[in-house]
Amino acid sequence: MANQYKRILTGDRPTGKLHLGHYVGSLQHRLALQDEYECFFIIADLHTLTTKPDKASILTIADNARAIIMDHLAMGIDPEKVTFYLQSAVHEVYELQLLLSSLVTVERLQQLPTIKEMAGAAHLEQIPYNLLGYPVLQAADILMPRGNLVPVGKDNESHVEITRQIARRFNNAYDEVFPLPEPLVVGGTLVGTDGQAKMSKSLDNAIFLSDDAKTVEKRVMSMYTDPNRISADIPGTVEGNPVFVYHDAFNPDKEEVADLKTRYRAGAVGDVEVKQKLAKALNDFLEPTRERRAAYEADRGYVDHLLVTGTERARQEAQETLYAVKKAMGLTGVWNKIRRSDEKREKRLRD
Ligand code: TRP
Repeated sequence: MANQYKRILTGDRPTGKLHLGHYVGSLQHRLALQDEYECFFIIADLHTLTTKPDKASILTIADNARAIIMDHLAMGIDPEKVTFYLQSAVHEVYELQLLLSSLVTVERLQQLPTIKEMAGAAHLEQIPYNLLGYPVLQAADILMPRGNLVPVGKDNESHVEITRQIARRFNNAYDEVFPLPEPLVVGGTLVGTDGQAKMSKSLDNAIFLSDDAKTVEKRVMSMYTDPNRISADIPGTVEGNPVFVYHDAFNPDKEEVADLKTRYRAGAVGDVEVKQKLAKALNDFLEPTRERRAAYEADRGYVDHLLVTGTERARQEAQETLYAVKKAMGLTGVWNKIRRSDEKREKRLRD
């Protein structure tokens, strides 16, 4: 029996298409969880505004959101089971973030290493107000559809902790509105093709889930390996060698991998053979996803349709939660009457 009463909320900032590192770090876990839980996957574009508020970056959001959804579908995420939605289109999220912001202190937020790290990575000398509030916005995301389980990387665990604290404080101060969300820390990271600690688009060391077979081959053939091995007869190091890290992660033929490792250590195999076998393993892994991708791509407008219907669905949840929140806080009443005239005006502006 599926855990349908349990709900997952997780998601990504729309910074670009996804790569093998995303597969290892999150997508493979989402695939495993989608049958057991009701899933909400947020495209957190308001979070990208915390470090990239310039207009040019904002204009890339829509395409990046589409790319992320397409990557999920190609890898086997079932659109029947998952609700994708665009954070900025759910205005209840903005409201909830503000209402939750009295339940956490500036000091608590300033202590988080993640905020400083993000500021550093974005070369910001000072911390913008919304970057300090990043975890409060994330709390609003998680609490909005009343998520029970939040699969995140280690780097986001502290934000789920803050979310729990905020939820607990809200429930104590006003009324029991929120279930306490559990973090599910999923791993891990994948080294880049250049041997750097992490695969990332900005380091130009990534193999993308949408790369075609030729591109994968090209990227693999130029991968960083043991630099001491200037010829095939020199014994090499397997541990931490990205080519073998990828073999371990993606080559299902364990015997082949074991044999390559033995010969590599003995100086009895060339880099070319190791890499060709890796390229084949990766392409075998990606091939079925390419077929799925092509089928979804042939259905023009489908991804936009998913995003629109998903966002509508998320807004329904959001309105229910926000109403319960305001009611618990004692903020409804007059607000309800004002709201009605508001909607009329909004409708006029749209027509
Ligand atoms: N903070 C996440 C990241 O590192 C993105 C995100 C935004 C998120 N809201 C979320 C993750 C809610 C899990 C739950 O990109």
